[in-house]
Formats: sequence, C-alpha cells, structure tokens
Amino acid sequence: MQPRSARIVGWGYYAPQRVLTNADLEQLVDTSDEWIRTRTGIRERRVAAPWESTTSLASVAARRALAVADVDPAEVDLILVATVTPDYQFPSTAALVKEVIGSPRAAAMDLAAACSGWVYALTSAHAYVMSGMYRTVLVIGAEVLSRVTDFTDRNTCVLFGDGAGAALVQASDEPGGGLLGFELTVDPSGAYNIWVPAGGNRNPTTPATLERRGHYIRMDGRETYRYSTRTLASSALTAIRRAGLTPDDIALFVPHQANIRIIESVAKQLGLAPDRVYVNVDRYGNTSAASVPIALSEAVERGRVQPGDRLVFVAFGAGYTSGAAVLEWTADPAASARAAAIGPDVVVRAPRDWTADDPTPPELRPFFAAREEAAARREEAAAGSSADEARTASPGSATPTSVPTEVHA
Ligand SMILES: CC(C)(COP(=O)(O)OP(=O)(O)OC[C@H]1O[C@@H](n2cnc3c(N)ncnc32)[C@H](O)[C@@H]1OP(=O)(O)O)[C@@H](O)C(=O)NCCC(=O)NCCS
Repeated sequence: MQPRSARIVGWGYYAPQRVLTNADLEQLVDTSDEWIRTRTGIRERRVAAPWESTTSLASVAARRALAVADVDPAEVDLILVATVTPDYQFPSTAALVKEVIGSPRAAAMDLAAACSGWVYALTSAHAYVMSGMYRTVLVIGAEVLSRVTDFTDRNTCVLFGDGAGAALVQASDEPGGGLLGFELTVDPSGAYNIWVPAGGNRNPTTPATLERRGHYIRMDGRETYRYSTRTLASSALTAIRRAGLTPDDIALFVPHQANIRIIESVAKQLGLAPDRVYVNVDRYGNTSAASVPIALSEAVERGRVQPGDRLVFVAFGAGYTSGAAVLEWTADPAASARAAAIGPDVVVRAPRDWTADDPTPPELRPFFAAREEAAARREEAAAGSSADEARTASPGSATPTSVPTEVHA
C-alpha cells in the first residue's frame, strides 16, 4: 500500500572528540586565526580518532536517529550513506554500517554527490517510501575529510572537518508533512574545481601520485565561492516555489556549513533574517555530506524546530552539485533527548588479513598526542587522589581514555 507521506521520525549526529583549533593550524601553515574567522567563520573543527572511520561515525549517528525515533534497527528497509570519504572503495560504507547497527533485512548503498550528498539521499529516500517500495529508510551523511585533507595547503586545510548526521525517514498513513518540494542540479563545468585527482581508476596510486600529493582535496576557492553564492539561492527558491511556498513561509533555513560568508549571502538573497538561519560552521567547519544532517539534528535538539515548521535544506559541492529540499516538520523535538543514551563507541569488524596503521594525518599527530597524554596524566592523578582518599590505592587502575571500536574476525 502506498503511504500518504514520508516523514523524518528520527535524527542524530556524532562529531569526534578531537578538536583542531585555528591556533593549531597557525602552527602548521602560514595562516592566522583572524584570517580563518573573518574569511570563513570557522573557529575549530573535529578530527576522527585513529580507531574511528566513516563507518563508525555514521553508525553512531544512525543509532542515535533510531533511538530518537524509538524504531528497532530490524525495521530498517534501506540504508543510504552519502559520503565522499568511504572506508574503502568497496565494500560500501553502508554495508558496514548495516552490520554495526544490526538491520538484518536492510538493503544498503553509498551515494556520492559530495557536500550535496545528504540532500540527494533525502530525496531518494522520499521517492523509495512514496512509491511503496520501502517503509523505513536511514539517510546518513558521514565524512572523515581529515584523511583526504592536505595539511600543508593553507587554501584547503582550514576548511574541513569530520562528522556524521542521520535522519530516519518513515512512511506515514497521515497526509501532510515530509518533503514538499526539491531541486537537484549538477554543473560539470566545475568538475575539476574541487576534486581528489588520484586514487581512483584514472590515476591509480603510484609513487608519482603520492609524490604529487594527488590523494588530497584540491580546490579553486574563488570559483567555488562564486558558484555557491549563485546556485544556493536559486536552488532553494526553486524548491520553495515547487512546494507552493515563498521564503516568508520558511521557519528555518538549514544550509550546508561551508563558509559563514556564503551562508549570509544566500540568506540575504532570500530575504531571511539571521534568526531563521541555522549556523554551526564555527564549531565543525565543512563536514561535506554530514553538514546538513548535523545542523538539522542540533537545531531540533536546541528547540529551533517545531511541528508544522517548514524547513529548507540546501547544499552545494563538488561536481558541481547542488541540492535543495523543503520539508514540513512533524516530529516531537523533545524526542532528541533519547539520543543521549547512545554513546560514541561502536564495534566495526576489521578485516582478517589487514591491520590498519594510525590513519591520523602525520601533521596532526603531535597535537593530539600531547593533549591525550596530558588528559591521561590528569585522569591518573585524579584516580590516584580519590583512591588515596578511600585508602584503597591500586596503581594502574585508571580507566582507559579511549575504547577501540575495531575487533578482528
Ligand atoms: C577559500 C576561501 C575561504 C578563500 O577566501 P577568499 O576571500 O576568497 O580569499 P581568496 O581566495 O581571494 O584569497 C585571498 C588571499 O588569501 C590567501 N589565503 C588562502 N588561504 C589562506 C589561509 N588559510 N590563511 C591565510 N591566507 C590564505 C590566498 O593565497 C590569497 O592570497 P593572494 O591574494 O596573495 O593570492 C573562499 O574562497 C571560499 O570559501 N570558497 C569556497 C570554498 C568551499 O566552500 N569549498 C567547499 C565546497 S563544498
């Protein structure tokens, strides 16, 4: 039976705990906190720990979305993971997420539309549900961009961060709510303006591609800036018109978090006051496909979204792609609290014959090593003094600060 609407019933996000600040970047490349803040709005971004990957980040966000919706993983029919930083070329990240969250009957696939990926995936989920093919679809955006970022290139390394966000889309027999209008575009004239030249089949990995640092993001920032300010507003307006609405009807605009100046320019073109625009680029930087679902989940959690609100999601990215979707919110925002029960640790099964080295970019290791050692010493000291107080001191009994999320088959 075909449903009457496809609604977001769960939402969740996860950002790794390691924080990379503008002050850290000042030590790596010729930049300044002032330059980064005024040109981009970014203050800090998150970086995945050695045992984390796109699969693990995506799985935490997905489990939180399922908890918020109070839906059993066994009910999931399809898992879509929007990402340009999959764990492997294959299998898909979605297949690995399926194993982690335990959804026995789910189909699973990745979707690559760069920073627009989650908006593309959301419209795909809508189509699957409204056609009657599937009732429950997990729509995840997840990236570990730190592992394809060149931390010797000041043009790009200040912009990107790691994270994951997820929404659970479910069929409803109630009319109204869900996706009201959308617009997806691709302009391949910008295909080589943000790209990773090597590691695909056109330029397989060789000593020469490594030498040229071809496995990292390359970007023409000015061209991309021009494209984004032109396209975001027109994509959003088209989606809003298709929904039979005007920008005045939009309660909250949830844009891709690439640069505060881009967000402000688009808001101005649409005539939206700052209180109708959600911004968190200052804390996470650009997390590509994860950016919109992280922003949405945070906005709901912080009481910025109420049932009946019309929201606009809009993103742009490599390709060039753009995606806009207008959605009527129906869920109870108070359900966000259920995500708190889901911790950051998940178990991703590791391959039998391959042991991963620490994938943290070598330039970043000293920052985290120093901080994590200091934190471990503080914890040890705290454990020692409380043990002393209890007169039951037992050396070496401090709780480990990190929990590896890989087990071997
Ligand atoms: C990258 C971006 C922030 C640069 O800001 P900008 O105001 O356009 O700056 P410009 O590109 O004009 O560069 C100005 C100068 O700053 C320099 N610069 C670049 N990055 C710098 C950094 N991190 N610190 C200090 N100076 C920097 C440039 O080399 C340039 O110097 P030059 O004039 O001597 O050549 C901006 O173009 C942008 O946000 N583009 C979109 C990028 C994006 O969103 N990508 C992801 C898409 S999903």
